[in-house]
Formats: sequence, C-alpha cells, structure tokens
Amino acid sequence: MHAARAQVVAVGSALPERRLSNAELAARLDTSDEWIVSRTGIRERRVCEPGQGLITLAEPAARRCLEKAGVAADTLDGIIVATITGDMVMPATANLLQHRLGAARAWAFDLLNACNGFVAALANAATWIESGRAKRILVVGGDVMSSLIDWKDRNTCVLFGDGCGAVLVEAGSADGNGIIGFELHSDGGPASELCVPCSGSAMPPTAEALARGDHFLKQNGKMVFTHAVRRMAEVATSLMRTHGLGAADVDLVVPHQANLRIIEPTAERIGVPMSKVVVNLDRLGNTTAATIPLALADAEADGRLRPGSRVLLVAFGGGLTWGALYMKWGRG
Ligand code: UT7
Repeated sequence: MHAARAQVVAVGSALPERRLSNAELAARLDTSDEWIVSRTGIRERRVCEPGQGLITLAEPAARRCLEKAGVAADTLDGIIVATITGDMVMPATANLLQHRLGAARAWAFDLLNACNGFVAALANAATWIESGRAKRILVVGGDVMSSLIDWKDRNTCVLFGDGCGAVLVEAGSADGNGIIGFELHSDGGPASELCVPCSGSAMPPTAEALARGDHFLKQNGKMVFTHAVRRMAEVATSLMRTHGLGAADVDLVVPHQANLRIIEPTAERIGVPMSKVVVNLDRLGNTTAATIPLALADAEADGRLRPGSRVLLVAFGGGLTWGALYMKWGRG
C-alpha cells in the first residue's frame, strides 16, 4: 500500500460564451440537425473567438477549482495541463497558468495524450502523490478544438467544441477516498487515422502545407469509432477486474464524450445503466481533453457527484490512446 492516496477534492470549469448550434452549421454546410443528432447525439457546442487561447479558459477553470477547494495557488507543488491545443508549442500552457495563478512553488508541464489526456494526467498526478514527491497538484484538461478544425469539412467540424476543466489532487490518508487504480494503453500503429499532419517537426507550416489544409485535424471516423467502442469497454472491464469491482461498485461513469453511439455500448458492456452515466455532449460536443473534467463539473453541480461517490472514468482518443481510472471522490 502507498503511504498516501491521491484524493481528487474539487473541480472547476470554464466555457466560451459563444454557442454554435447544429442549425447554424446546417445553414453553411451540407449537413442537418437530424444527421448530427442521430449519428452523434450532439446538439450544440461552445466555441472560442478566433485567436482566443486555451489560457483564457484554463485560468478561470483553475481559479474556480482552487476556490472550491479552499486552497491558495502558492501551496501547489505542480500543475499538469492535458491538451493538444495549448496556446503555443512552447512554452507549455501549464507555465502560463502557473504565472497567472501565482503558483510560485509549482513545477508545470503540458501532457499530450489527446482525448485520453485528462485520465493520463490524473494518473500521473496520482503517481507523484503516492510516491511522496508531491502533496498538491492541479490537473487541467482543456482544448480549443475550433483552432484545429476545418470549418468547411462536415466530417469533423460538427463533432468538436471548446472548453476546459480543472481538478485539485491532494495527498490523503492511504485508506481514505481517492484514486484506487488506473490503467493506460497506447497503440501508435493506426496513428495516422486521427492526426493533425502539419503540426510539428515532420511537416513544418509551409505555404504549401497550409494551402492543402494539412494543419487541420483529419479523422477516419469509422475506424476510430470501431476502436473506441472496443477499447473503452475493454479497459474499463480490465480495471474493474484488477480491483475486484462489479457494476454495483460504480455510482457514476464519466466517459469521454465523443459520440453517444460510443458511450451507450460502453456502458452496456460494463453492465452499468445509462442512469449512472454522465452525458453532456449534447450541449458541448467533443472537447477532447476537457470532456471528463467538464462532465465531472456538471455531475457535481446537479448533485450526482458527492464526497465518497465511486467514479469510473474511461477515455479513448488519438494516438491511439485509451485509459480508465477508478476513484472515490472528494476529501475524506
Ligand atoms: O474523440 C476522439 C475519438 N473520436 C471519436 O471517437 C469519433 C469516432 N467516430 C465517430 O463518432 C463517427 O464515425 C462519426 C460521427 C465521425 C461519423 O459517423 P458514421 O456513422 O461513422 O458515419 P460515416 O463516416 O460512415 O459517414 C456516413 C455518411 C457518409 O456519406 P456516404 O459516403 O455514405 O455517402 C458521410 O459523407 O455520412 C456522411 N457525413 C455527413 N452527412 C451529413 C459525414 N459527416 C456528415 C455530416 N452531415 N456532418
């Protein structure tokens, strides 16, 4: 047993003001509200103004989280921001956040694991805390997907939205609430099925690359869909088996929000009714690393997430990468 258990004690969130409905998209593209709702479950999403960086959401999300936890920023040991749309490739958005919050003692780095980013960052924070090397870590999941999207590509632009959530992870007693286990996986084989080709050293942003639209997200939707349904159920089931858990040991499932047609079979395969599954993609779409913390914030606001709630997180995304994490929420 570890000397300390990593407790997730508070959540904060931030969304851009602007709502973008399916009807608005249908007015400018060859799509329809009926297609988007029936194929994905999404009705609207939030989008940033052009040039609005992730930090403009990360800072208020982090401040709300710290305020709820009753914790001062200068007591943080570390900050991890899970994102694929940081303000810049360098410096990390975590560094910008560290400065804005006045978290003078905290180390800070970004973690790039696409839609599994928040689960991976939380697992990372838990490992720091269980090792005794940190006591208090702010974990942020946020993405400004509107900056990566080709708004003329109906295959992708209807799916994504912008948002950010933050949780505070603290050292607690080894047999109290907190993160009980997690499991992470990767498979780089099908990497090109969900990628942004012109976004790094392999393809610098030349005029030709930009003219081709290679700086926009590309996805083989069907292939990613098939993997997501299989892998999310697989990793959740495996984690539950490792810890001797049955469906009755789960009060709330908080899955990555990419498609209702992925979430429903995942819940069915792990034997949990949809009444225990948090779904907010109808209002927010797929916000990549932000989907899970935003859903945690919603569940807390509507009273479904309370201290002691037994919560299963499960995610799948580009990489390919997937993971699950089981915890008892809150201090205690
Ligand atoms: O979060 C990271 C991981 N990402 C995911 O988990 C996403 C996984 N994939 C999906 O959620 C689904 O595959 C999509 C929602 C992206 C697409 O749903 P689908 O049922 O797999 O549709 P499809 O790609 O097979 O397309 C069916 C048809 C195509 O037309 P044809 O070729 O059959 O004539 C598309 O061109 O639907 C067409 N289509 C659209 N039609 C109206 C694609 N996008 C649209 C659209 N409006 N927005």
